[in-house]
Amino acid sequence: MDTNKKKIAVIGAGPSGLAQLRAFQSAAQSGTDIPEVVCFEKQDNWGGLWNYSWRTGLDEHGEPVHGSMYRYLWSNGPKEGLEFADYSFEEHFGKQIASYPPRAVLFDYIKGRVEKADVRQWIRFKTPVRHVEYDNSSEQFSVTSHDLENDQQTTEMFDHVIVANGHFSTPNVPQFEGFENFNGRIMHAHDFRDAVEFKDKRVLIIGTSYSAEDIGSQCWKYGCKSVTVSHRTAPMGFNWPDNWSEVPLLQKVQGNTATFKDGSSAEVDVIILCTGYKHNFPFMADDLKLTTANRLAANDLYKGVTFVHNPRLFYLGMQDQWYTFNMFDAQAWYVRDAILGKLNAPDKNEMLKDIADRVTKEDALEDDYACIKYQGDYVKELISDTDYPSFDVDGANEAFFQWKKHKKENIMGFRDNCYRSVITGTMAPVHHTKWVDAMDDSFESYINN
Ligand SMILES: Cc1cc2nc3c(=O)[nH]c(=O)nc-3n(C[C@H](O)[C@H](O)[C@H](O)COP(=O)(O)OP(=O)(O)OC[C@H]3O[C@@H](n4cnc5c(N)ncnc54)[C@H](O)[C@@H]3O)c2cc1C
Ligand SMILES: NC(=O)c1ccc[n+]([C@@H]2O[C@H](COP(=O)([O-])OP(=O)(O)OC[C@H]3O[C@@H](n4cnc5c(N)ncnc54)[C@H](OP(=O)(O)O)[C@@H]3O)[C@@H](O)[C@H]2O)c1
Repeated sequence: MDTNKKKIAVIGAGPSGLAQLRAFQSAAQSGTDIPEVVCFEKQDNWGGLWNYSWRTGLDEHGEPVHGSMYRYLWSNGPKEGLEFADYSFEEHFGKQIASYPPRAVLFDYIKGRVEKADVRQWIRFKTPVRHVEYDNSSEQFSVTSHDLENDQQTTEMFDHVIVANGHFSTPNVPQFEGFENFNGRIMHAHDFRDAVEFKDKRVLIIGTSYSAEDIGSQCWKYGCKSVTVSHRTAPMGFNWPDNWSEVPLLQKVQGNTATFKDGSSAEVDVIILCTGYKHNFPFMADDLKLTTANRLAANDLYKGVTFVHNPRLFYLGMQDQWYTFNMFDAQAWYVRDAILGKLNAPDKNEMLKDIADRVTKEDALEDDYACIKYQGDYVKELISDTDYPSFDVDGANEAFFQWKKHKKENIMGFRDNCYRSVITGTMAPVHHTKWVDAMDDSFESYINN
């Protein structure tokens, strides 16, 4: 081993961490001398949230379960908005597929690119990172990880750390009056696994974002008796089925009776808190910890990735997400080139100004369409700095705009629409079965189009 090589630690082998591995591998492929890259992954496989687990609570090693995904989850946005610019759906599947793939299909796609890149050997599975701190004298990070199989902790020095542990795994769990005496199940979306469990039940959902919309829709599709969605700020306002209602914020629960802010009430059997997640970095020393809300312009990250208080440290995928896989790629290529010395961070004041400008611009955005364009512009900005294959980001924005329109037209039917790939230019086929009737969401069933 070349002892002069820089050493890089990547924490997490989800879509963001894997994008980082692919970014380094692609540089190596084109002849660049790359650093030694070690990726730490606490689960036994790659794919992050897309690596489905039936488990909830603690796993077999006593570690908090990372997974927040559930059976029957289909992409909630069109795949044309997330396609890798260097690895199209057609390259992976040998044909174009429909636009809203179920979880297993997207997992397969993510996996295909990194198998082709042959980077699995860089990952240490079942090895959570326990602690990271910076040593001013050596200008290196000490990274302590735990080999769960052998129950052994090791501390190693790295020149750079890239944190890619996701931010949709630590649930935000509010408390409402009477919860302790509720005669039924109370759970957070993080622990939701199978809508069939709620067949014939009256489901109360708290929250109005994507988990609320999709978990409510799942329960409806798989036969629950009714869905009541309670909002803190505003109702979702879609044209919901007859047994679905939107009500103001829950005030209290007595027995099975839930009472809302307008004085109305409903009898419910189960309460699902779709109240979002918290960024959580228990393994980072306090001075390296990112503190931010789930927003498009994350705090303290120059260009959305470089930690302003220590520019040798990077965070990937910490923004709220319209764009996902291709944005993680744009970030990973940027971080790679920063580490390779091709891109230089300016002084701290300039970096702080960059962040403040992003926050101001985000605060001025008027609607979801403007937010999509804002994040699309961010993707454009990053890819213009690197050799990540340029792609038609405006076309991807357009797929998201159409998606918003299709949801408004028919919330239980929007997944039946199809869009044109901005990478290969081909139109997706119409799926063989409408989403409301497609009870079998297996990989085999979906790609057999
Ligand atoms: C329910 C749900 C549905 C979603 N659906 C969609 C969708 O349809 N389309 C879409 O584009 N996006 C969707 N997303 C967004 C999702 O955030 C991204 O698609 C993507 O998974 C984010 O990738 P990531 O690598 O940043 O994080 P993650 O996928 O969360 O991966 C992080 C990885 O880090 C590992 N890790 C965590 N802590 C440690 C540690 N201490 N040491 C080592 N490893 C660690 C985890 O085990 C995990 O493998 C969804 C999110 C949720 C919660
Ligand atoms: N593929 C899929 O179908 C799918 C399914 C689920 C989730 N996802 C993804 O998962 C990610 C997270 O989505 P999310 O919906 O879990 O989180 P989120 O977008 O952060 O939304 C959190 C919701 O909880 C509400 N909330 C928070 N605290 C509350 C409180 N104390 N009382 C009442 N309401 C409260 C918020 O209301 P306010 O508006 O009032 O703040 C908001 O509606 C997204 O990226 C999403 O795309 C995808």
